[in-house]
Amino acid sequence: MKKTILTFMAAALCLTAFAQTGPDVLIPKPASYTILPGEAKADVPVKISYGSRKIKAMVKDLPDYARKEAYLLTIKGKATVIEALTEEGAFRGKKTLDYMKEMAGGGPLKACEVFDYPRFRYRGLMFDISRHFRSKEFILKQLDLMASIKMNVLHIHLTDDAGWRIQIDKYPLLTGQAAWRPEKLWKDWDVNGHNYSREGADRAFGGYLTKDDVKEIVRYAAERHITVIPEIELPGHSLEVLKAYPTIACLDSTGTHPVFTSDLCPGSDEALRMYKDILDEVLELFPSQFIHIGGDEAGKASWAHCPRCQARMKEHALKDVDELQSWFVRQFDSYLASKGRRLLGWDEIMQGGLAPGATVMSWRGTSHGINAAAEGHDVVMSPGDWCYINHNQDNPLALGEYVGGYLPLSRVYEYDPADGFKDTAHLLGLQGNLWTEHVPTDENFEFKLYPRSFALAEVGWSPQEVRNDFQEFRARAVALADHIRGIGYHPFDLHTEWGDRPERNKEVKHLARGCKVIFNTPYANQYKAAGDATLTDGLQGGWTYSDGRWQGFESDIDIIVDLGKTRQVNFVGAHFLANIGAWIGFPEKIQIQTSPDGVNFADCTEVLCQVKDTDDGSLFVLLGDFIDVQTRYIRFKALRKNLQYHDWLFIDELIIN
Ligand code: ACM
Ligand code: ZN
Repeated sequence: MKKTILTFMAAALCLTAFAQTGPDVLIPKPASYTILPGEAKADVPVKISYGSRKIKAMVKDLPDYARKEAYLLTIKGKATVIEALTEEGAFRGKKTLDYMKEMAGGGPLKACEVFDYPRFRYRGLMFDISRHFRSKEFILKQLDLMASIKMNVLHIHLTDDAGWRIQIDKYPLLTGQAAWRPEKLWKDWDVNGHNYSREGADRAFGGYLTKDDVKEIVRYAAERHITVIPEIELPGHSLEVLKAYPTIACLDSTGTHPVFTSDLCPGSDEALRMYKDILDEVLELFPSQFIHIGGDEAGKASWAHCPRCQARMKEHALKDVDELQSWFVRQFDSYLASKGRRLLGWDEIMQGGLAPGATVMSWRGTSHGINAAAEGHDVVMSPGDWCYINHNQDNPLALGEYVGGYLPLSRVYEYDPADGFKDTAHLLGLQGNLWTEHVPTDENFEFKLYPRSFALAEVGWSPQEVRNDFQEFRARAVALADHIRGIGYHPFDLHTEWGDRPERNKEVKHLARGCKVIFNTPYANQYKAAGDATLTDGLQGGWTYSDGRWQGFESDIDIIVDLGKTRQVNFVGAHFLANIGAWIGFPEKIQIQTSPDGVNFADCTEVLCQVKDTDDGSLFVLLGDFIDVQTRYIRFKALRKNLQYHDWLFIDELIIN
């Protein structure tokens, strides 16, 4: 017996000692690979060969953009060879080799041949460094990892209400004032009335990238075959600029006072001139073909009253404020085109008519991107439901505040950017976005970025047919996340992942299962879940209100359950979900009444909600009470607090025992 154990241990040690690392560890998964007999040493010299007959034959049917990045990596015996057509292709091959070597930790590699190329030409991440500033060093660190997983675009959201983040010499107040605020946290700045500070002041939080910083980022990225796309947001999300340069804000209807919404005044010639000047300096720093001009979420309220906006609309026969926005965006489309660049914008730039040269970044679902592509515009897909990696990735009660819904690794991985496209000729690729309202630190930024960016990288690079097993991907993601943790990154720990809200995965048994519910107040059609059956179907909701299990009421709740016959009832209650960012609150109280006939109800109990619902993200409370009543009908009311931001109530099941 002892001998058997020793033999087994020796065999296990041999296996560990000689475990070989191969292409099966890689993220993104290569388009194809073959394991060859034998093993290879990790430290042999690497030969790079351009334009061999073999690689030329292998890439001949690929689209141009894929050919450019394609490589053939052969690891065999004493030689490692990378064949490619371009330096970029050779770089991708080198990254594949480096990845395997890092994961091998000095151990041997499997002899193998990897022939690989990307599915999409645009595989991007967007970093919002306005809400919370991130330094040059931090950005360089992320570029290293992006290169390892073959992402090739970094879009930096440089300007927004919460802070301007790039040096512009002609307008020094952009960095002297608009880059600084008295509150360190976006959340505090947001509730305190959106104030700004001064560079060097006692309370000045924020910062900006100097021109030298930008040059270094762009150069470092280019060395890794990553393009950096700057975003200079207009005409919305621009309060920080208006506060520094109020003359480009709209005027009130008397034409005398500036109006501080977040929108620039598209009627202002000075605004046009200023943004062209800014773009001139930006173009000098960023060689990217695309320049992102934002374009999202302009409120446009001031434009309807501003004499300058009204004059502009008259002058160009623009029939509404959407057309005014479109006119404004077109000025920059043609300006950028005149400089040999292309305008990229969030999908609202389609409102009022899309500028002729514009490329659309589709974030409000997928339909805007699909429609723009059908009209012949290039598109990058970045829909919130799969690509907003600022959304919550696990149990929100354990992970802290966030905005948006539930976006675990599995959901990011299931995304196919081509879904819904009849023709993908204009589909450039995809992008993950990291908005930073609730991302105050470097650590938290990386926590949200990884490992979900691994899934985006694979969605963007790997052919759909090799992406067929999430659990297998997840194992590679765990290994990579563990590895990068060891070299100083802070990924979310998949070992501790909860998954969706546990209640969602088990049916709840109770007396009212399948019983009829009479709705004295109707549920909202867009959050009806399973309609009339929702509250007694035994199915409970997950971490987010929009998952088809939660039922939403844009009113108090007043419902009656008919148990079918008189029953002994000992408990009545329901889980409520609050999400302040979505105007969903907990009720002030619930009231329960009972009735033998469904007409005459007697008060039974009332429960006050004592739980706070003011943190961002989903919060949950079970509100109910133990009772001791024989009854057939139960009336359940939930009364809203008389507060701003508590328009909605959401429940998933009325639990009666
Ligand atoms: C966006 O998320 N407002 C583009
Ligand atoms: Zn105006």
